[in-house]
Amino acid sequence: MCGIVGIIGKAAVAPLLVDGLRRLEYRGYDSAGIATLIDGAIERRRAEGKLDNLVRRLAVEPVQGNIGIGHTRWATHGVPNEVNAHPIATERVAVVHNGIIENFQELRRELTGLGYVFQTQTDTEAVAIMLTRHLDDGMDPREAVAATLARLEGAFALAILFAGHDDFLICARRGSPLAIGYGDGEMFVGSDALALAPLTRRITYLEEGDWAVLTAKGAAISDAAGRPVERAVKETALSGALIGKGNYRHFMQKEIFEQPGVIGDTLQALFNPTTRSVNLGEIPFDLAALTRITVIACGTSFHSGMIAKYWLERIARVPCEVDIASEFRYRAPDMATGGLALFISQSGETADTLAALRYARSQGQHIAVVVNQLESSMVREADLVLPTRAGPEIGVASTKAFTTQLVVLACFAIAVARARGSIDAAREAALSTALTEVPARASEVLNHDEKIQEIAAALLDARDVLYLGRGTAYPLALEGALKLKEISYIHAEGYAAGEMKHGPIALIDEKVPIIVLAPPDELFEKTASNVQEVMARGGKVVMISDEAGLATIDDRLYFGIPIPPCDAFVAPILYAIPIQLLAYHIAVLKGTDVDQPRNLAKSVTVE
Ligand code: AGP
Repeated sequence: MCGIVGIIGKAAVAPLLVDGLRRLEYRGYDSAGIATLIDGAIERRRAEGKLDNLVRRLAVEPVQGNIGIGHTRWATHGVPNEVNAHPIATERVAVVHNGIIENFQELRRELTGLGYVFQTQTDTEAVAIMLTRHLDDGMDPREAVAATLARLEGAFALAILFAGHDDFLICARRGSPLAIGYGDGEMFVGSDALALAPLTRRITYLEEGDWAVLTAKGAAISDAAGRPVERAVKETALSGALIGKGNYRHFMQKEIFEQPGVIGDTLQALFNPTTRSVNLGEIPFDLAALTRITVIACGTSFHSGMIAKYWLERIARVPCEVDIASEFRYRAPDMATGGLALFISQSGETADTLAALRYARSQGQHIAVVVNQLESSMVREADLVLPTRAGPEIGVASTKAFTTQLVVLACFAIAVARARGSIDAAREAALSTALTEVPARASEVLNHDEKIQEIAAALLDARDVLYLGRGTAYPLALEGALKLKEISYIHAEGYAAGEMKHGPIALIDEKVPIIVLAPPDELFEKTASNVQEVMARGGKVVMISDEAGLATIDDRLYFGIPIPPCDAFVAPILYAIPIQLLAYHIAVLKGTDVDQPRNLAKSVTVE
């Protein structure tokens, strides 16, 4: 996902633009650049690859100017090289863009026919040249922006500089978030509040279709129809410190270790310790009347949704299906009215999940979202918002967002069960109490960090790794495999342990480590049998269970990771931590870019 930053400042903005881009690196990118105005003329510096390459370029060719825009590009159209790096410019405008212009080829043909020459392979250049064409036709910058936005199809967040106008910049959003920041005689724009955190805490999030003219004095915001509008200025809680790594080596490591705290914060907002009951707040529909719950998400969020299905079916006794958003949205199922569509997303901006939400809305479903970024499109489009309180998650590999999603989903399942009369007060108290013990238990699990680091060293040269689990540990097996794949680049697969005999057991030999998640639930014995079958064929098993569980397997285990005893209900939350640590330490030993793994973006805001 691309990152945008723009500044109208009191002094040279280039260093501040680069700092802003650094705070957007977590989104994933493969080139970067800035543009400023010097004596009214556009000056650009761009570089392929990481931000350090741009910094080196600026050290050799510094650029002045008190107004500028910057961009980190995650390539969609056009290879990631300097030519295609943003800002994309003509003599008259410089543009940075996050999103996809769906009709850029049509616009390119039209503008080429008018004699304009394209220099890049990007969709964004159609925006820059369309603006230029309108300026050449005599429009002023505001008119040119309005006329151009009317021609664009697709998703965009834009920031635009105009040659000869160093007293304002114009920004616009449709489908990709954009935040305006208010300074003291300075103004800022960024893809999110993180980009602007050290510059200001006073933030306005543009609404869908809004565009704004920023001057040093403030912002004149218009809606999609061009009508002046006021948008709330909010104090963001983010600060430079909050989004630093602290004493940790990577954001992912910091976020793994933040889990006891943020799990506690998330629980605190949902659980009443006096009545020992769950309180979700105001719910705009009747939980007891729900005929079906459809859970939809992508990636790690999909895995938390899979776990929620077990809880909703077993505890709340409500029919539930779970699906990945990119399949659901095109399968376009007929959905019986009276159902709830529940979307899970850390960013609240994942394109496929958002499209699935809009489809479910069209099918008359109640819409609930479990989201971490509260200034996001999904939050704005939901009937019920269930926040995770994980704080900013910078590492591309999702960790604390996952476990806090599980906390929210567990509380939601309890609330639905209570509403439907599937559990009594005593059972609710028992389940809730098990949840309240998770933060302390999670801290105990983190104490095994060194042991897991040793195991990581033993697995470092594996070519393939298998993760196995049953019940709610099956989605965890998928999650463990995803974590390892996405940050260490080692191929891994998650499997339902009961499926081994149906094929995967053919993979077992001494070169394929098997990570078995075996929480103390009613399926433990069956999982323990799978462990014996795998070891009997030379498989090297790393078993994650409690002490009693590990003791049932003789000493032929390759490694055992002991988890504190816990209620089976909360096991998925605790058992997620060792699989996160294992992937993290293997990736660190392999020397990959743990926080920004190759090819990945933190939020996939394009299909
Ligand atoms: C997980 O580690 C990945 N970063 C990815 O699978 C992620 O969970 C997925 O892209 C969904 O993102 P979201 O939660 O922001 O919707």
